[in-house]
Amino acid sequence: MEDKLHAIREEALQAIEQASSPAELDQIRVQYLGRKGAVTQILKGLGKLAPEERPKVGKLANEVKKGLEKALSAKKEELEKAVPEERLITGFDPTLPGRRLPYGSLHPITQVMDEIASVFIRMGFSVEEGPEIELDYYNFEALNIPPDHPARDMQDTFYIDDKVLLRTHTSPIQVRTMEKRQPPLRIIAPGKVYRCDSDVTHTPMFHQVEGLMVDTDVSFADLKGILTLFVHEIFDPETSVRFRPSFFPFTEPSAEVDIQCVMCRGKGCRVCSQTGWLEVLGAGMVNPAVFRHVGYDTEKYTGFAFGLGVERIAMLKYGIDDIRLFYENDIGFLSQF
Ligand code: PHE
Repeated sequence: MEDKLHAIREEALQAIEQASSPAELDQIRVQYLGRKGAVTQILKGLGKLAPEERPKVGKLANEVKKGLEKALSAKKEELEKAVPEERLITGFDPTLPGRRLPYGSLHPITQVMDEIASVFIRMGFSVEEGPEIELDYYNFEALNIPPDHPARDMQDTFYIDDKVLLRTHTSPIQVRTMEKRQPPLRIIAPGKVYRCDSDVTHTPMFHQVEGLMVDTDVSFADLKGILTLFVHEIFDPETSVRFRPSFFPFTEPSAEVDIQCVMCRGKGCRVCSQTGWLEVLGAGMVNPAVFRHVGYDTEKYTGFAFGLGVERIAMLKYGIDDIRLFYENDIGFLSQF
């Protein structure tokens, strides 16, 4: 009988140890200490034992009973402590892992602008900014575009009144920077610009990055070198670059910069209208007339300037054929970048 009690105690203690809820503990209590429980049965049956066995077995059975009661209440306390009160009440479990929120990402235009900026920053350029609501003076006049100059027709300007407009390019930042600083100057100016125009390759708002370098002997060779390196960094080092004579009132001489078509590698396709070339930049040597507006000594200083369209670069880089996709906020499109 004593052996049986020892076995019951071992078995019960193990069950208590492994119990994982108060309900389970209750079941164990009933199984061993309930009215028909294993230990209770033995206590009830003491009368049937030989008189000399009774005290020993009785004592042991009581010990086992007390031991189990103690183990049960200790385990119950432990289980209740592990379960926070609010979980018992509301089912809220603060220990569960949180739900993951989807990550956002930078807009492709922002990414390309950052990439463009980082190429020039590595070449020693710093970043300048200017207002999007601009004076006619900075957007046109100081850039050698007087009021009745035909070059104003090249840009479909949004006027606010006859002196204030939405800047049509980032070139006014050239003038603003030169007004407040002296050469040597090596800056880029990224930003939004506005033109009244809308189709698959034009949106009324788009982004440009302006560049300006002024020093005592900046030459067209510097312009070619820096822009060629830029194209090789943004596209790839195998991309050919060509400089084509052009006209801008604020540069003289002026050039348009073409890159070998990134789609057909120069063979001729729909994207490059069978020419094999894509125009990506406007550039030139700063016109002395602009230097005169900011009071720079035109005998002492020369410089070059350039302007590029960020959307156009992004479209070529990623093979996007409709500029409007950038501004539809379609998550399926945006999340590819
Ligand atoms: N501002 C010109 C444009 O928007 C680009 C340009 C910038 C050309 C600087 C020459 C020099 O078309």
